[in-house]
Amino acid sequence: MSVDKLPQEIQQLCEELDLHNYRYHVLDEPSIPDAHYDKLFKQLQVWEKDNPEWVSAQSPTQRVGAKPKNGFSQITHEMPMLSLDNAFDGAELGEFSKRINERLGLAVDKEIEYACEPKLDGIAVSLLYEKGVLIRGATRGDGTVGEDITHNVRTIASIPLKLRGEGYPDKLEVRGEIYMLKAGFKAMNEQAAKIGDKLFVNPRNAAAGSIRQLDPRITARRPLEMCCYSVGVVEGGEIPEDHIATLKLLNSWGLKINPHLISASGIADKLSYIEKMQQLRDQLPYEIDGLVFKVNNYHLQQRLGFISRAPRWAIAYKFPAQEALTKVEKVEFQVGRTGAITPVARLTPVFVGGVTVSNATLHNMDEIERLGLKVGDTVVVHRAGDVIPKVVRVITEKRTENSEAVVFPTLCPVCDSQIVRIEGEAISRCSGGLTCAAQRKEALIHYVSKKALDIDGLGEKLIDTLVSKEMVAKFDDIYYLTKTNLMRLERMGDKSVDKLLATIERTKQTTLARFIYALGIREVGEATARNLSVEFGFLDRVIAADAERLEQVTDVGPIVAKHLASFFAQAHNIEVIESLRKAGVNWPEGEPIAVEELALAGKVYVLTGTLEMMGRSEAKAHLQELGAKVSGSVSKKTDCVVAGSAAGSKLTKAQDLGIEVLTEQEFVLFLQSLGVVV
Ligand code: IVH
Repeated sequence: MSVDKLPQEIQQLCEELDLHNYRYHVLDEPSIPDAHYDKLFKQLQVWEKDNPEWVSAQSPTQRVGAKPKNGFSQITHEMPMLSLDNAFDGAELGEFSKRINERLGLAVDKEIEYACEPKLDGIAVSLLYEKGVLIRGATRGDGTVGEDITHNVRTIASIPLKLRGEGYPDKLEVRGEIYMLKAGFKAMNEQAAKIGDKLFVNPRNAAAGSIRQLDPRITARRPLEMCCYSVGVVEGGEIPEDHIATLKLLNSWGLKINPHLISASGIADKLSYIEKMQQLRDQLPYEIDGLVFKVNNYHLQQRLGFISRAPRWAIAYKFPAQEALTKVEKVEFQVGRTGAITPVARLTPVFVGGVTVSNATLHNMDEIERLGLKVGDTVVVHRAGDVIPKVVRVITEKRTENSEAVVFPTLCPVCDSQIVRIEGEAISRCSGGLTCAAQRKEALIHYVSKKALDIDGLGEKLIDTLVSKEMVAKFDDIYYLTKTNLMRLERMGDKSVDKLLATIERTKQTTLARFIYALGIREVGEATARNLSVEFGFLDRVIAADAERLEQVTDVGPIVAKHLASFFAQAHNIEVIESLRKAGVNWPEGEPIAVEELALAGKVYVLTGTLEMMGRSEAKAHLQELGAKVSGSVSKKTDCVVAGSAAGSKLTKAQDLGIEVLTEQEFVLFLQSLGVVV
């Protein structure tokens, strides 16, 4: 039945569901709770079940249909789907704009407008809308002939079955990328691993595999999204004269576009966009492998034309590859602060993710088994952002006869104590505790670190020396270091020693939260330490609390409560605390403040964009500590929005609603004014 002949109620319900779908999947701005959406959806299902003649192909319930009978049929693209030339650095990007100006007969320094957008790492697809109705979806294929995947694209919630609004051409081909969200990919692989299924190598392969399923029910279960980045065939209607305006119009018709689309003219602006996106890359919920720069104006695009399979008016700026092949030369075992034994692969140095990498973590023995790794193997190393590089795959075809199995030690490589593995835990630990020099050293590094006692100038190297010369063994030994002793060490001059001693003295005055964190109790991070300090007010009360009481503290679960209780139950840990107090380490204590008396009690905050100075979790913890609620979406009830860099729709909404907006810098100053140590 055609949509306009449906009874009004059904039509209205379909429209309402469509609107919520658009708000949720395309705009990222849901306005109703998920449960309410589910209720409306159920209602529609019931009505349609009772009245099958009312079911339209565009109904939100009809996204998952039947399998195509004869497998995938081929589709010849009316306009070929092109690829892009690449640039790998700023100089190549500069040459690209220079070539464009030359071709257009413009002076070298004349700046024309470019659209800048992320290069999404998925698969290219074409969607065909006739009179606003989605009638076909196709893969790019070889650019000329692709496959009909209509039954699968219909299952993707960010693809409208019917365009919204009006003014769209009678025939409109939209092009874009279908990709899988990183989190969904991880969850899917974890599930597959559990049931012994084959794992996907990366989100792009997973997206490609998902979209090429015959059974649309399988595709429907995969976390896929589509962002549009261009149009193909346009007939019976007009589109704007430039790329950015066109994408915005597509967005108003219900199609998703990438929020990081910007306009830039000079090379400086393009380079700062590159810089910004490179920093943002790892925080994005999907993978990007670079950026795309396109001449914005369509007339200019036309004048520039194509060479072979790529347009002259666009270029892909590729980020350094995050994966590379190399060889595992040996596997060594490191001892961490809590005694955890971590196998580390020593690699033939390889350039990956923009740096040379020669070590990669192997996490634990289970991971080595999962990878099937042997010493001498050729492996794929992955390095993203500042994350520790890791071995993600073994190329077994490249294995030689000289490869050797990895043998997990039974004794600690540093102190020879027994290594133990607790039932059900993946991690093995050295049982030496603080008698193990490695654990002692790591514990000291943690104790002096920035978020703990913050003893600037007492770095890893110096601790190494102090531990190996037996000048420092326990935390409190730090406070008995003397100028004479320190002066004897290499590269320690008069001034630096004075400075260090002054810092040690000054930082004795600390906070309860820092002190608890500094103790290095398993799984007690800064946020937990802060919550303990706020909710107890006195260290002795924390020490006296049993696991049950500790579990009542914000964000403290049974495991952390157990670690805390068992830490404070050990006499030698209490001795450590006493000796530190004796050495002069001190902090203010006092009755915890009742929640309603906190500075931000009852206030609702929303954090958006990238917070560069502290990150979201820390900002959230500070706000909660001051009694504020931190919400995920902006509404009339929001009191304040903290907008980091690249803030998007939430910021716009806050401005529309006239809600107070703070930049990150203003927020930090505000926190400091409330006595928070940032
Ligand atoms: S424009 C004629 N924009 O990159 C221009 N492509 O190497 C055609 N891609 O096959 C593509 N994000 O799958 C364009 N924002 C973006 C893109 C993008 C990803 C992919 C696309 C294409 C490949 C070209």
